[in-house]
Amino acid sequence: MFLIHSNHASAAGVTLWLTMLGVMRAQSVPADNDTPPFSTLYKWKQVDFEFPTPRHRRHALSTGKFVPANVLPLGIEVWGNRVWVTIPAWRRGVPATLATLPRQGGLASPQLKPYPDWSFHRGFSDPKNCTGLTSVFRIHADHCGRLWVLDSGQIDSQDNPKQLCPPSIVVFDLKTDTLIARYTIPKQFVLQDSLFSNVVVDSRTADCSDLHLYIADTWRFGLLVFREKDHKFWRFSNPLFFPDPLASNFTLHGINFQWTDGIFGLALTPIDPYEERILFFHPMSGYREFYVSTEVLRDPSRVNNSSYEFNVAGESRGLNGQASASAVDRSGVMFYGLVSRDSIGCWNTKKHYKRRNIGTVAFNTETLIFPNDIKVDQDFRQNLWVITNRLPMFQAGPLDEEDYNYRILYADTKEAVRGTVCDMDPNHPSPADIIHRGWLP
Ligand SMILES: *[C@@H]1O[C@H](CO)[C@@H](O)[C@H](O)[C@H]1NC(C)=O
Ligand SMILES: *[C@@H]1O[C@H](CO)[C@@H](O)[C@H](O)[C@H]1NC(C)=O
Ligand SMILES: *[C@@H]1O[C@H](CO)[C@@H](O)[C@H](O)[C@H]1NC(C)=O
Ligand SMILES: *[C@@H]1O[C@H](CO)[C@@H](O)[C@H](O)[C@H]1NC(C)=O
Repeated sequence: MFLIHSNHASAAGVTLWLTMLGVMRAQSVPADNDTPPFSTLYKWKQVDFEFPTPRHRRHALSTGKFVPANVLPLGIEVWGNRVWVTIPAWRRGVPATLATLPRQGGLASPQLKPYPDWSFHRGFSDPKNCTGLTSVFRIHADHCGRLWVLDSGQIDSQDNPKQLCPPSIVVFDLKTDTLIARYTIPKQFVLQDSLFSNVVVDSRTADCSDLHLYIADTWRFGLLVFREKDHKFWRFSNPLFFPDPLASNFTLHGINFQWTDGIFGLALTPIDPYEERILFFHPMSGYREFYVSTEVLRDPSRVNNSSYEFNVAGESRGLNGQASASAVDRSGVMFYGLVSRDSIGCWNTKKHYKRRNIGTVAFNTETLIFPNDIKVDQDFRQNLWVITNRLPMFQAGPLDEEDYNYRILYADTKEAVRGTVCDMDPNHPSPADIIHRGWLP
């Protein structure tokens, strides 16, 4: 069985395995280094696409299939030599909802390349049935080179929502760029106004045969589990998935808005020596972190018998501590976007979740406005990836097209925590101890 541990023997195994896959790569050339410890790989004022021909681009612009001001990149994933970006069809004029970029950089604002090709994209190709992609929120790659895509199936969500296709999970093989599977989320788990906004993959074996997805329903406060083996879904409910009314009042850069968003951030710890893995989660409208053992989530018989398994981790992050996406690296450090503080936060999951143990990796009132998605990649030396998109300003009115509105940033995870309270300390208990010895208050 292949497990991702932080010890040297398995680290060597990871390197060997990455080299076999051809995933080890050369250095990237960033657009700027204005946000240390991050490098900005790309930045855009507005996003453009690689259309089949200039004529196609002109036609898309004149028919309203492409409205540059309405194209907002949201989710990110990195695998091999490419970066994947999602663009939900929140407003009209989004020609492609999933796209790639080269990882090597070199060009500050490259055009996005629709993934796997134009024919999949409803916004451009008008496929008559639900075989393509409609509106993708977030994505997660497993370690076998498959991309798990969460497609909401809904367009014009901001203005006049239309559910064109059922919410689905679409799976691509990243080595061949082909569609492998599509799983529709069963009706009984899709509530009125459900918004499935985030997904993480929990894959345990070398061949990814034991794979589960955890999916956040941010508007109807549920956690969906999908088991690949038999294509079965189940749904957990818990009061900890709800928004905190006191944290639903957001203020940033002079904009005030109310979001009652529930469970959103999902981050899995590495698999520990007890074969256990913890899912940390938090509502978008909240200041606190919560956790549950994946052993509970993976057991469908526990859906009505698990309320005590969901717990709060330590202290509140404090005023304006709302967090978007989060991710945990192989050494157990969690990173998360602090959307009301123009910051990326960190926490070493081996320590108590106390204010004194949570740190700031970077703060920048220009380049880190609304860090929306975060991933750590699967390289031997892991990088942290962040996409920022000024979402509240986008919603309040058109973004300034003379300003850089969207950025993709990356940093070596070890460099990212250097000098912060999140730097490693081998004497602290592991995430397993948190569960097995009840460390968290
Ligand atoms: C959907 O459309 C594609 C072509 O756009 C076609 O190949 C496929 O057979 C159709 N599927 C269904 C279920 O109608
Ligand atoms: C929300 O925040 C704004 C700005 O800080 C404040 O003026 C307002 O009173 C707050 N509203 C509520 C209901 O707390
Ligand atoms: C959980 O409870 C619901 C509602 O009572 C019921 O429909 C469902 O079958 C139960 N699930 C399990 C696994 O017991
Ligand atoms: C609930 O789950 C626990 C732990 O698996 C088990 O011991 C208990 O018997 C279950 N209770 C019910 C009513 O199923």
